Amino acid sequence: MKKFTVAELLSSTNYLTEVTLNGWVRTFRANRFIAVNDGSTINNIQCVVDFENTDENTLKRITTGAAITVKGTLVESLGKGQNVEIQVSEIKILGDSNPDEYPIQPKKHSLEFLRENAHLRVRTNTFSAVMRVRSALAFAVHKYFTEKGFYYFNAPIITGSDAEGAGEMFGVSTLDQNNLPKNEDGKVDTTKDFFGKTTNLTVSGQLEAETYAMALGKVYTFGPTFRAENSNTTRHLSEFWMIEPEVAFNNLDDNMDLSEDFIKSVINYTLENCKDDLAFLENRLQQEEKTKPAKDRSEMLLIEKLNFVANNNFKRVSYTEAIDILRNCKPNKKKKFQYLINEWGADLQSEHERYLVEKHFKCPVILFDYPANIKAFYMRLNEDGKTVRAMDVLFPGIGEIVGGSQREERLDVLKQKIADLHIDEKELWWYLDTRKFGTAVHSGFGLGFERLVQFTTGMGNIRDVIPYPRYPQNAEF
Ligand code: 4AD
Ligand code: MG
Repeated sequence: MKKFTVAELLSSTNYLTEVTLNGWVRTFRANRFIAVNDGSTINNIQCVVDFENTDENTLKRITTGAAITVKGTLVESLGKGQNVEIQVSEIKILGDSNPDEYPIQPKKHSLEFLRENAHLRVRTNTFSAVMRVRSALAFAVHKYFTEKGFYYFNAPIITGSDAEGAGEMFGVSTLDQNNLPKNEDGKVDTTKDFFGKTTNLTVSGQLEAETYAMALGKVYTFGPTFRAENSNTTRHLSEFWMIEPEVAFNNLDDNMDLSEDFIKSVINYTLENCKDDLAFLENRLQQEEKTKPAKDRSEMLLIEKLNFVANNNFKRVSYTEAIDILRNCKPNKKKKFQYLINEWGADLQSEHERYLVEKHFKCPVILFDYPANIKAFYMRLNEDGKTVRAMDVLFPGIGEIVGGSQREERLDVLKQKIADLHIDEKELWWYLDTRKFGTAVHSGFGLGFERLVQFTTGMGNIRDVIPYPRYPQNAEF
């Protein structure tokens, strides 16, 4: 007999067909109705047991979390909430789940509790919905770039370069930490290490992606990224996934266009393909919002917010304009910001980004042309000599979701910048080669995948949109 998924059966009208279904018990009530879920959809299928003809021991073993195989007839359902149900003729318990020990009971669990049980939390409606949306978004990313003629490029995970120059890297070493080899100066002799040099986990695949864009034209990365910043926020992970497109001959305007079109496209994909999960998440969020003070509640429901982003232009604002707005805004004048904006050149904090997006413009914002000295070395210097062709896309509830730039393609300007920042030019010889041989205008950006999942699912904490979050003092599982 063909095995069906719950999703297939729920959308079937082939009544009276004999079917087999594997899944897990969500609830069992009145010794008769089993709600079965198999992950194929947020919805459960109701399986009706003929308890008079089922042995008592089997009935006892139908507990929340148990794995079962059900054989039966698909029939039209008279109960409300579902069109079909299965009239069970045979039920087999594949794997028991002791109700006294199983942590995921059919009741509301806190997100904190579920985080401690990250290996089981995907068995809840909330986490299964989030992870299905995450999967759909990942597919939409590959679909978007493939259809636009990009090549998928895999940047190395272990690297000798610090792309962002921020020094927030996790070291990779096989040296015995209790017995480190030393050189004459008393420093660790890294030539004895596995790669014969200092190596780290990558913070960005951008520099390597640039070398590929200089031959393949349009490339993108989509891979794990690591940052050893000690940020205990709802928007930072130590291990996250980043998508980094890099395009030859694109200037900053092209780059902004690409980021906006890309984000809208992947959000639209979920609106079309994750309807049940988004409806569930919207409802969940609505319940959560009710517990907040009225002034902190979101003005839009989740799906409305996604449609709003997908259908409206992002507002493009220069850093200089943004500073003017921030300097004169109420929370700045009333000293409500934690970091007050006094002058041009200030680095923007998340509170400022969110003020611009949520209070001032009330739509996604792309800020561009930032001061050179608060941005990375590879960004193209503007004619004014003090700003660079940087861009950040800012989102409601999230703040920065994308960071990118037009790259400095002029060898002499780039070398000067590297020297000014005391970066070792020898380490970047291969990067500089792209400026020596056939250099050209090019641009790219990085989108934090989890921040996108957070926005799309409405989850408040980034630790709840990746299966096993990594953050300071936590690497369980
Ligand atoms: O702004 P960032 O640091 O930019 C880069 O790494 C560039 N090399 C990208 C490029 O131009 N190719 O990071 C890009 C994005 C951020 O906007 C944010 O969404 C995400 O990566 N991000 C993080 N997400 C989760 N946890 C963290 N610790 C993150 N740090 C950055
Ligand atoms: Mg950034």
